[in-house]
Amino acid sequence: MCGIVGYVGEKQAQDVVIEGLRRLEYRGYDSAGIALVVDGPIAWAKKAGKLANLEKELAESPLPGSTTGIGHTRWATHGAPNDVNAHPHLGGHHRVALVHNGIIENFAELRAEIEAAGDELRSETDTEIAAHLIERALAEGGTLTEAMQQVCARLEGAFTLVAIDAEDPSRVVAARRSSPLVVGLGDGENFLGSDVAAFIQHTREALELGQDQIVTITRDDVSVTDFDGRPVEGTRYHVDWDLSAAEKDGYDWFMRKEIFEQPRAIGDALLGRHDPAGRLQLDEGRISDDELREVDKIIIVACGTAFYAGLVAKYAIEHWTRIPCEVELAHEFRYRDPILTRSTLVVAISQSGETADTLMAIRHARTQRAKVLAICNTNGSTIPRESDAVLYTHAGPEIGVASTKGFMTQMIAAYLLGLYLAQVRGTSYADEIARVVTELGDMPGHVQRILDGSDDLYALAEELQQARVVLFLGRHVGYPIALEGALKLKELAYLHAEGFAAGELKHGPIALIEPGLPVFCVVPPRGRDQLHEKMVSAIQEIRARGARTIVMVEDDDTGIEEFADTIIRLPRVSTLLQPVLAVVPLQLFACELATRLGHDVDQPRNLAKSVTVE
Ligand code: G6P
Repeated sequence: MCGIVGYVGEKQAQDVVIEGLRRLEYRGYDSAGIALVVDGPIAWAKKAGKLANLEKELAESPLPGSTTGIGHTRWATHGAPNDVNAHPHLGGHHRVALVHNGIIENFAELRAEIEAAGDELRSETDTEIAAHLIERALAEGGTLTEAMQQVCARLEGAFTLVAIDAEDPSRVVAARRSSPLVVGLGDGENFLGSDVAAFIQHTREALELGQDQIVTITRDDVSVTDFDGRPVEGTRYHVDWDLSAAEKDGYDWFMRKEIFEQPRAIGDALLGRHDPAGRLQLDEGRISDDELREVDKIIIVACGTAFYAGLVAKYAIEHWTRIPCEVELAHEFRYRDPILTRSTLVVAISQSGETADTLMAIRHARTQRAKVLAICNTNGSTIPRESDAVLYTHAGPEIGVASTKGFMTQMIAAYLLGLYLAQVRGTSYADEIARVVTELGDMPGHVQRILDGSDDLYALAEELQQARVVLFLGRHVGYPIALEGALKLKELAYLHAEGFAAGELKHGPIALIEPGLPVFCVVPPRGRDQLHEKMVSAIQEIRARGARTIVMVEDDDTGIEEFADTIIRLPRVSTLLQPVLAVVPLQLFACELATRLGHDVDQPRNLAKSVTVE
């Protein structure tokens, strides 16, 4: 949520910053802005709407050349998304320019103080007060770094701040508390970004920052301190993906590209998870096997799509481990005073690793002495850093705001976690675990087959273009997939879409069924538990009331045709793994329908990919 870029080097800062903003635009697209250190007061431009608006403005009224600059792409919190509230914000005398991601919670009090001192604030944002405070601290002498330290000591809330000083072109200074920021290490140039996509085309060497740290970048140096000015070491790492991963590669949308990358992503998520003896192993962990044997309850916390991955995981984890597993929306979790003990394992699922609600939930869990394990896609992000162990999903960068390969690999990682726990605790036989691992290994091929046969879905999207309401039904692990299918349509097509557990239909939702209403139905594989038969009955019930049924069913499942207006075939797999396949047609359908409706699939209205405010 909000993308931030900083640069100092030999290149034209405007080019580097705008390019960085383009790659970070998925984080927020309510407005964009840039500020440069030039000869004289700060040069700046900012514009409501997408980055293209700012670029147009810069083409019409170019800024002077500069090699030191900052930029911002906004997801609005305080103040409407207009030109005035767009970042950067400037101090009273235009000496300091500042961009911000997060929320300064004590801004009302600081605002009153600034106004009482006679400074006029132009915007409704919480950010502008920080620009004024830093400028006032600078006016008393010292460097921008020292001014940043003084001001950060007074700020409450979560924030990344990046600032420049009109009188010092040599440096860009940033501060980080609970919001993301990474440093890109170049040769004769250095970068700041909300994530590595901001500078990946210039360098793949990066420096991770910790909580409450301030970083000063110059052309040839990067120095990090804590908020009290004491030097600290950042953690250096090599980014293991390159520019091509952050580009569309001929697809119309990042989201479509990411859907089609899923066979590869599943393969990468599974890669290297065995030791030479064939036993499963996790990535990084400070949770010992002995501690895992002590676990008597698992609570999965997550938001949005990641929450639905958690719902799928619950079925698998309880089945394989016999440990009770709850799944909870992260923002509800900590406010209900959950019962946590040393033997509770809290599993945080987050693609970005920066979702504030999930972060706050794990902080709460740790204060209660629970163990926290993160399932995360973003190396070095805050949630894994603050967890006791982490299982990375290795999906590669996900740019489309609506999660697809992120969700897919979250499910894969959660299955691996369940199997690992079962192995450590001896609750599943080794050959059963090996059988599931083998089946997981077949998933890339199955998903590829679904992708290769997706033409019918495009026709379906064309046919359902006029639909205003779409329902999704599932049972067991098909239920979270119904929820995810509905969420994708809400996010992308702005349709009223709902997912229901098929068994619940008769308790109320069946009243919604009317002639022609499209209903996607995820049919469980045939098995001993009669889930399949019960789902088929539900389909018959809605069909009898005129619903237009779109039935997702295994390849060799015959007899269902008479109740289905459209059939989508899925390769035959075991029940617990069916979500891996069933979600794919729903992702493609949502992407295609939104495209036909003329919506921006990668940047849906009002959303941001990484929600770093509570
Ligand atoms: C936002 C995004 C969703 C995402 C959710 C959780 O709401 O729009 O697509 O599922 O955040 O994100 P996370 O990074 O924690 O998985």
